[in-house]
Amino acid sequence: MSSDYTGKNDREYSNGEITVFWKPSKCIHVATCYRELIDVFNPAKRPWVNMNGASTEEIIRVVNLCPTDALTFRWNKEKSTPPEEVSSEKEHANTDKDKPTEIKIMKDGPLVVKGNIKIIGSEGEELRQMKMASFCRCGKSGKMPFCDGTHRRIGFESE
Ligand code: SF4
Ligand code: FES
Repeated sequence: MSSDYTGKNDREYSNGEITVFWKPSKCIHVATCYRELIDVFNPAKRPWVNMNGASTEEIIRVVNLCPTDALTFRWNKEKSTPPEEVSSEKEHANTDKDKPTEIKIMKDGPLVVKGNIKIIGSEGEELRQMKMASFCRCGKSGKMPFCDGTHRRIGFESE
């Protein structure tokens, strides 16, 4: 069974206070991060994440918007606890078994399913177990049934 956490191309970025983790295998290029905070998340730059581009709270806010958990974060020191108003529900490696399965329809993009998912093939065979999967809605993905980011390249419009 393949894993969501292949790790080979994963990246980490720190500002001393928090570390942001990026898993390209989970990134479906819906662009939420750079639409919200281009000073930090800028795909035209290398490295593409600039941890000095905004405050820690602002970075956490946008990390929490990533629909696929391609972006997560961790506080570097235990004593640096998150401020009350900042959600930490996506903190790295945090799993909440009691949460209901969530299905989110991304505008001009895939269907993102989060929860304990088992994917069954057309012959009834179990293909994968995952915590998150994004399913193609544009019909052009190169790795069906999953989204591979092609929707952005072809300018898919969902409504
Ligand atoms: S999936 Fe997450 S990391 Fe990838 S572009 Fe969207 S918001 Fe950014
Ligand atoms: S919806 Fe992303 S590749 Fe089709």
